[in-house]
Amino acid sequence: MRNFITIEGCDGVGKTHQTRLLKQFCEENGYNNMVFTREPGGSDIAEQIRKIILDARNTDMDDLCEAFLYSASRIQHLKDIVKPALEQGKVVFCDRYVHSSYVYQGLGRGLGLEKIVLLNEIAVGEYMPEFTVFLDLNPENAFKRKGGADKTDRMEAVEQAFHAKVYQGYKKLIAERPECFEVIDASGTEQQTQMKLREVLFRRGVLR
Ligand SMILES: Nc1ncnc2c1ncn2[C@@H]1O[C@H](COP(=O)(O)OP(=O)(O)OP(=O)(O)O)[C@@H](O)[C@H]1O
Ligand SMILES: [Mg+2]
Repeated sequence: MRNFITIEGCDGVGKTHQTRLLKQFCEENGYNNMVFTREPGGSDIAEQIRKIILDARNTDMDDLCEAFLYSASRIQHLKDIVKPALEQGKVVFCDRYVHSSYVYQGLGRGLGLEKIVLLNEIAVGEYMPEFTVFLDLNPENAFKRKGGADKTDRMEAVEQAFHAKVYQGYKKLIAERPECFEVIDASGTEQQTQMKLREVLFRRGVLR
């Protein structure tokens, strides 16, 4: 979908930070047609679903239940935020989207990529991103930056082997559909990564 851009990468690679820096840059430079949002959550009902997903007490959550909750949150967030903004001709920049489900639930949890792709086709229909920015940094280095995983976050608390599968999962998706991704080396400083991100957006005509 034109004007719909998503940002992906393992936990702690800097997606949220880069989105915040980009928002600040856009505000300071008169780009008032950009909407910045995130998943899971991003709107009232969707945030309520996010709390259930990430609550560290929900250790017994079934993997498929988790996959459906992510999709449920996504449907609501599309309705509340993404669709209205795109209809108004705005550019929507979203922190995580379907590719997170593909790799975390499909490959990390082992539910199978095909099943999760199908579930998300039902959830999002034609609302697939024009392209996806992948912040490339392996999970060991990303967690080091964060000072370790946040154990109060149910997803981050999962063992390292899971996050390694997630990283390999992203790499597999990129190898299969390179035209859908812009891969950015995220191992440098926050400013270096931000400059690379802006370069991509200028090249793609999102920024002018
Ligand atoms: N290039 C960088 N160099 C050093 N530290 C960084 C860099 N980018 C982000 N950080 C720090 O790493 C931590 C994680 O960043 P951030 O929350 O943006 O990651 P994220 O990809 O959104 O993670 P999550 O998937 O958990 O939401 C933050 O403390 C942030 O300040
Ligand atoms: Mg984040």
